[in-house]
Amino acid sequence: MMRTQVGIIGAGPAGLMLSHLLHLEGIESVIIERSEQDHVRSRLRAGVLEQGTIEMMREVGLAERIDRLALEQHALDFRFNNRSHRLDFHEASGGRSAWAYPQHEVVADLMRVREEAGAQILYDSPVSRIEGLEGDRPVIHFESEGKQHALSCDFVAGCDGFRGISRTAIPSHKLALYDRVYPFGWLGILADAPPAIQDITWGCHADGFAMMSIRTPEVTRLYLQCEPDDSPDNWSDDRIWAELHKRLDVDGQPPINEGRITQKGVTAMRSFICEPMRFGRMFLAGDAAHIVPPTGAKGLNSAMADIKVLGRSLVEHYKRNDQRWLDNYSDTCLERMWLVQRFSAGLCTMVHQFPGDSDFQRRMQLAELNYMTGTHEGRAAFAHNFTGLPVHA
Ligand code: APR
Repeated sequence: MMRTQVGIIGAGPAGLMLSHLLHLEGIESVIIERSEQDHVRSRLRAGVLEQGTIEMMREVGLAERIDRLALEQHALDFRFNNRSHRLDFHEASGGRSAWAYPQHEVVADLMRVREEAGAQILYDSPVSRIEGLEGDRPVIHFESEGKQHALSCDFVAGCDGFRGISRTAIPSHKLALYDRVYPFGWLGILADAPPAIQDITWGCHADGFAMMSIRTPEVTRLYLQCEPDDSPDNWSDDRIWAELHKRLDVDGQPPINEGRITQKGVTAMRSFICEPMRFGRMFLAGDAAHIVPPTGAKGLNSAMADIKVLGRSLVEHYKRNDQRWLDNYSDTCLERMWLVQRFSAGLCTMVHQFPGDSDFQRRMQLAELNYMTGTHEGRAAFAHNFTGLPVHA
């Protein structure tokens, strides 16, 4: 049987970052990943990093490409009532920023340093069973090249995303699950068009939400609120551009730029959190433990926050024989995560149109938007959350 100190399930950003952090401290790990490497590397997902995530990447030796490619963002342009309401979160947070740097670049950076260090990452190897989590030596069972294998470890890190196996390996009576599914989705669009302005732009329109953000100076990422079970086939290019112009263009600002659409897909929206984030010797991190609606760009950043705490907790265990960090891991992460859920769900509710909403609710949304963009206190609260709450690790 194979053996390691920390067995990590999933080679998404959470699993890769954890194995890198542990390696820097001389702690051994093996990552077991269901999909092939090219599939993991090319998945297009989130694109905005908090200040704290950028600092973490820099601290662990991943500054070079970030310094070259990440685009610093200082403001979010909220558009409603046919006007632009620019919220300068850099100023309102006392100098903190957000950064446009796509998740697949984070994954590429982490894969490169892990490969250079000779890491053991087993791709195309789905985990089928985890046993002994309440004992001293849990065992991860997985399949690779048509054969069954087993990995014995001190700890298991469940970094296998929302549809992974690790959370389901916990007896259901030991878990509390909190879930909200939203009655709409996002049609995500990638277009070969320079963004009309550099700021992230949100259209909070009575016909539905829309968003525009810079991916690179030549490529724009765009989103449109759509039906939860919508198909991209329902959205011709002409329909997409017409809706984007209607929801995003306002007086006094340049209209969005059109270009060749290179990708479109529908994302469902949910808020989900599982308590606790630990069972015996297994620790859940990232999407395996929580999901946020993409409004607010907190998915990847929350995964990195968990990993910072988990990395520190395992270092305290191995280096100083101190169990307190591991014992507190779930509470530490959940306390922050509920605040992130509050922010993400609050924004999501503020800017989308819900089926059956009354005119009173629409007016409440506009009042919320006016308070957030038009008062010092509203701007400060948004900026504090958007640029990233502190991580206690
Ligand atoms: N065995 C092995 N690997 C598995 C299994 C399994 N049974 N089930 C899932 N996995 C793998 C998936 O193939 C995937 O590569 O676990 C990985 C989980 O990665 P992500 O879904 O990217 O999750 P995470 O690392 O937590 O990343 C944070 O937050 O909001 C999002 O966009 C954000 O994807 C990002 C995520």
